[in-house]
Amino acid sequence: MAKNFYAPIAAAMKKYSADGAIPFHTPGHKQGRGAHKLLRELLTAEGLRQEVSLMEELDDLHAPHTCIREAQELAAKLWHADETIFFVNGTTAAVQAMMLGTLKSGDLIFIPRNAHRSVIAGLILSGAVPIFLPVEFDSEFNLPLNVSVETIACAIKKFPQARAVLLVSPNYYGVAADVKKISRLVHATGMILLVDEAHGAHLTFCDELPSSAMEAGADLAAQSTHKILGSLTQTSMLMLRKNFSESVRRAASLLQTTSPNQLLLASLDIARLQMAESGREKISAAVALAKNLRGEIKKIHGLKTFDAVKNFSLDATKVTVNVQGLGLTGQEAEEILRRDLKIQCELSDAANILFLITFADDAQTVSKLIEALKLLPRRPPKKIYSTPPPKNFSVAELSPRETFYSPVEVVALKKSVGRISAEEVTFYPPGIPLLMPGEKISAEVVELLAREKFSRVVGAADETLSTIKVVQSAATNG
Ligand SMILES: Cc1ncc(COP(=O)(O)O)c(C=O)c1O
Repeated sequence: MAKNFYAPIAAAMKKYSADGAIPFHTPGHKQGRGAHKLLRELLTAEGLRQEVSLMEELDDLHAPHTCIREAQELAAKLWHADETIFFVNGTTAAVQAMMLGTLKSGDLIFIPRNAHRSVIAGLILSGAVPIFLPVEFDSEFNLPLNVSVETIACAIKKFPQARAVLLVSPNYYGVAADVKKISRLVHATGMILLVDEAHGAHLTFCDELPSSAMEAGADLAAQSTHKILGSLTQTSMLMLRKNFSESVRRAASLLQTTSPNQLLLASLDIARLQMAESGREKISAAVALAKNLRGEIKKIHGLKTFDAVKNFSLDATKVTVNVQGLGLTGQEAEEILRRDLKIQCELSDAANILFLITFADDAQTVSKLIEALKLLPRRPPKKIYSTPPPKNFSVAELSPRETFYSPVEVVALKKSVGRISAEEVTFYPPGIPLLMPGEKISAEVVELLAREKFSRVVGAADETLSTIKVVQSAATNG
C-alpha cells in the first residue's frame, strides 16, 4: 500500500481494539461495555470499541511522535504546507493558536472588519492591536465581498510598523481575496500573512477554484476540514511554514483539550485519506454540479445567482441565490424551503439564500433543490435596506484584551461620543460591524446608529440602541 493511501491514526485504533486488552482506563464506558443503548445505537459497537484515548500506541496530540505525527505529515504534504496541526476544538481554536503563536502583546495587525469572532478571541489572547480594514461590498446582492489588494497596499503604507495581515478567504459566500498578490506585498515589508481559510479546505483540489492560501504564499492557514470535506464536526487543521512550528505548536497545546477524542482525530486522518485517494475527481465533480445548478437557477423567473465579482475570485460551490425578485427575504425563503419543501440551506440573509454543494452531492440532490426552488411563492416586491459599511481604516483605541478586562458601564447612545465601545454593533445587511470593542465612538457612528431603523441589529446588548455599553472612564472607574 502506498504510504499516503492509508490512515495511520485509524489503523492504530483498530490495532489497539483488536488486541483485546481489558480496559482499566478512561473513558468510563470502557470501550462500550457500560454504554447506554442509545449511545451504542448512535456510535455502533465498533465505534465505541475504538473510542479510547491516551494510550501509548495512539500517540499524543500535544507531543506527537507516532501515528498522529505521521497523519499530520501526510496532511501537510497534501495541502502544500511544511507542517500541519490537527484540532479537535474547531477552527475557532486553530485561528486562536495561529494568532497566539505568531503575535506579541502590542503588535499591530490588519484585520477585516467582518472577521469571525474567533479572530477577536485571538486578539484578546495575544494582546495584539487590530487595525480594522474596510471590506468591499456588493450592493446588487447586498453581501460583503473581501479586502482588496489596494486596501492592503494603502494600509501597509500607512502603518509600515505593523506585524501581520490576517485575511478571511474565502468568506462565507465563497468570495476570495487575491491572496497571491497580497502575500507578495505583505512579505516585501517583512510582515507575515495569516489566513482564516475556514471555508477553503477543498480549494487545493480543483484548478477552477481560487488558489489555496498556502499555495498562494500564506505563512499560516486555518481550515475547517469539517465544513467542506469529510471529517466530523469540530475537526480542523492548521497549515504552517516550519519557521513558526515551535511557537504555534506551543500555542495549540495551550488551547486544546488534554483528552482529544480519538474518533475526531481519526476522522481528520480519514478525510485526508479520502482527498489523497480521489480529491481531484471529487471536488471537480462538486464544482461541475454547482455550475449546472447555477445554470438551472438562472432559468427560474425571479431568481438570480451570484456568479462573479470584479477583483475577487469566487468558489463556485457556494451557490448564493438572490430571492428579491420573488418579493421574499432570504429568511422567508429559508423558512418555506425548510418547512414545506424539506430543503435546508447553509444560511440566509435579507436578500439571499446560500447553498453549499460538496462532493457528497449528486445529480439527484441538486435536481431536488432545483424543483424546490421552482415552487417558491411570489409576493409583492419589497425594498431591502442596507446600512453603508465603514470605508475607513480604524485603529482600536484600546486593544481587545484591555477592553475585555475593563469595567464597563451603560450610557445613553447620544452621550457616547468620544467613549470607547465595549461591544460590537452590526447591522444585517451589510453584516459588517459598524462598531468594534475597543473603538472610539465617533459622532458619525452615533448618528448612523440613531438613524437606523430598518436593519436587524446584532451584538448590541440593547437592541433598541438607545443605550450602549462603553468602557468606564477613569473618573467613574476611580
Ligand atoms: C470564517 C470563519 N472562521 C472561523 C470559524 C470557526 O470555525 P469552527 O466552527 O470550526 O470553530 C468559522 C465558523 O463558522 C468561520 O465562518
